[in-house]
This record gives sequence, C-alpha cells and structure tokens, in this order.
Amino acid sequence: MIYLDAAATSPVRREVIEAMWPHLTGDFGNPSSHHEVGESARRALDAARADVARFLGCRPGEVVFTGGGTEADNAAVKGITAASTRGRHVVVSAVEHPAVLESAHHVARTGGALTVLPVDGAGRVDPADLEQALRDETALVSIQHANNEVGTVQPVADLAAVAAARGVPFHTDAVQTAGWLDLDVGALGVQALSLSGHKLGAPKGIGVLYLARRTPFEPLLHGGGQESERRSGTENVAGAVGLAAAVRLLDVDTASVVRRRDAFIERVLAEVPVARLTGHPTERLPGSASFVFPGRSGESILLDLERRGIVCSSGSACAAGSDEPSHVLIAMGLEPEVAQTAVRFSFGPHVTDDQLAEAVDALVASVA
Ligand SMILES: Cc1ncc(COP(=O)(O)O)c(C=O)c1O
Repeated sequence: MIYLDAAATSPVRREVIEAMWPHLTGDFGNPSSHHEVGESARRALDAARADVARFLGCRPGEVVFTGGGTEADNAAVKGITAASTRGRHVVVSAVEHPAVLESAHHVARTGGALTVLPVDGAGRVDPADLEQALRDETALVSIQHANNEVGTVQPVADLAAVAAARGVPFHTDAVQTAGWLDLDVGALGVQALSLSGHKLGAPKGIGVLYLARRTPFEPLLHGGGQESERRSGTENVAGAVGLAAAVRLLDVDTASVVRRRDAFIERVLAEVPVARLTGHPTERLPGSASFVFPGRSGESILLDLERRGIVCSSGSACAAGSDEPSHVLIAMGLEPEVAQTAVRFSFGPHVTDDQLAEAVDALVASVA
C-alpha cells in the first residue's frame, strides 16, 4: 500500500510511543495528586507544556491541552465569544473545517451573529473583505492557516493584522500546517491557535489550544479546574508527553517535499488531460496535491486507486453515506457536479519519488 492520505492522519512515531510508555505504565499518576506519583506526572505535564510553548513561541501558561483539534476549535470559537465584552459576532471563512464552521453556526443559533467570508477561486480570503466584516460587537475572527481539502494557505499574518487594528482576537486552525509552516504565534499575530496530535506523529485524541494571556475565555468543560481553569478533566499526561515529543522531532525538509509535490502535480496535469488542480498553485501545503476530474466519478477513481494499492481520499469532510459536494470547493466557485469529482493526495516527508511515480501511473490507468 502507498499511503497518500497524510492530511487525514499519520501513524504514531516510534519515539513518541517510547516517550509515552512510562506514563501509561509505572509513572501513571494523576497530576492533581500531592504524593510523589502525582508530582511526577505533574512534572512530565509541565515539561510537555514547556516544549509546546517553545514550538509556538509562547509562554507555557498559554498552552491548554485538549482532546484534539476539534475540541481546540470549539473551545476557541465558543469560549472566546462567550466571554467577550464586545458582543457575540463571529467572523469565519467559508472554507473552515467543520469544527470551526459548525461552532460558529452554534454561536449564531444561540443568540450571536455570524459573518462567513467568501474566498477566491484559489480558496483565499481577501483581507479587505475581513476589514469590511468587522463590527464593534465582533468577538472573534477565526480563519484557518491552511485548508485540509485543497491545501491553500491563508495570509494569516495580514488577516490577523486587520483584526488587531480593531482590537478583535484572532484564532487560526493550524491543524494542517504544524510541521510544515512556521507557527510562531508572535509572527502570525494570533491570540488563539489549534493543533492536533495525530497530524504530527502523536496519537489521536490529544491537541492544543494556544490562548494568549488576557484573551477572554469561558471554558467548554467545567469541573476540577485543570489547565488553569480553562479545561477541566484529568489531564491526558501520556498524550501531552507524546504531542511534545512529536513537535520536538519535527524536522521536515520542506523544500524537497515542495519539489516532489510540484513534480507530481506537473505529471498528473500532463498525463491526465481531464485533471484540474484545486487550491492555490504555490501558496499551498507542501505535501498536498488536490484535483478534480470533470466528467468522471471521484468515488470510482478512489476505489480503483485503492485496488491498485494507492490510498488517498476525496478530501471532503462529508459524513459517511452523504454525497454532498465539498463546501470548500463550492465556496471556491466549482459546480457541484465538478466538486464531486475531487481526489486529494497528501503525503509526509518520507514519501519517495518512486511511490509518487507509481501513484501517477495508477491514476492514469484509473481515469483512462
Ligand atoms: C483543518 C482541521 N481542523 C481540525 C481538525 C480536527 O482535528 P481532530 O481530528 O484532532 O479533532 C482537522 C482534522 O482533520 C483538520 O484537518
């Protein structure tokens, strides 16, 4: 099998499992316990928090461990809006992951207001549109760092500067960019940011919400007051240790992945005449190549590729059994029939030229 679905998930790295193992076995304490077993777990959690803070260029106290990317996104959108003294208006882009989009709709359904910003044909938000959308009662802007379906990278620093000029907190979902793009929160100018362990070589079910000091925040989860009152629940110590180990290990030769991606895209477009690239041609995730095949069935292509040993995806977050076209491709102006022909190839740094060449050959045969 050639696995080209890294944007969906990736395996846990051996070093990460080794780092986690003691915290699932002998060193199993509850960080809130005051005996030595608990204190040891607390020290491990603190060290993990410090590592993630170094990765993001923030203070350890600004790192909140969550149960994954979806929870971090929900907490950012609902939690910051609920605590805002400005009002309950939220601004998001039309191409957000459902974890952000549905959270924003929840705010709107429960007495708030929502503006969904359009994107251009490449999936990018225009900072001028954001400027126009901001109101005195805007509590939060949430725009992703890069899109999970088409790989388009947003001009987050420019967008965050527009929000900052009006004193509005800015959240970015960086679940797809961690490991690929610089996530220094000071350089990005964001007050909140989401990460997910399982896109980085850590397990599923652990994530991070970066929350800048003094950002208004009402927790989603109430209880024992863990994570400095921002996320109650006994901490997933092993998960946090694993996520920290995964970020310490990140060392991707981005330029070489970009070279391989571009060669792959070029060959697909040359050898499969019906293929059209979706997303931005250059401002895209290094390991992401997404296409539509007008007039063909995306699902048949996927099934045929899998029979040939190539595992990839439609890229759309549609629920099982639903054949709704991707909201991302529709927002980018594609016809629903064309959007339904999407196929996404996404890969990590260890993909080889031979594997990518084999994938192109299989695609040529599948689409023929
Ligand atoms: C952009 C983006 N945001 C959020 C999530 C959700 O993260 P998790 O799977 O950790 O809940 C994903 C996962 O696919 C994603 O791609």
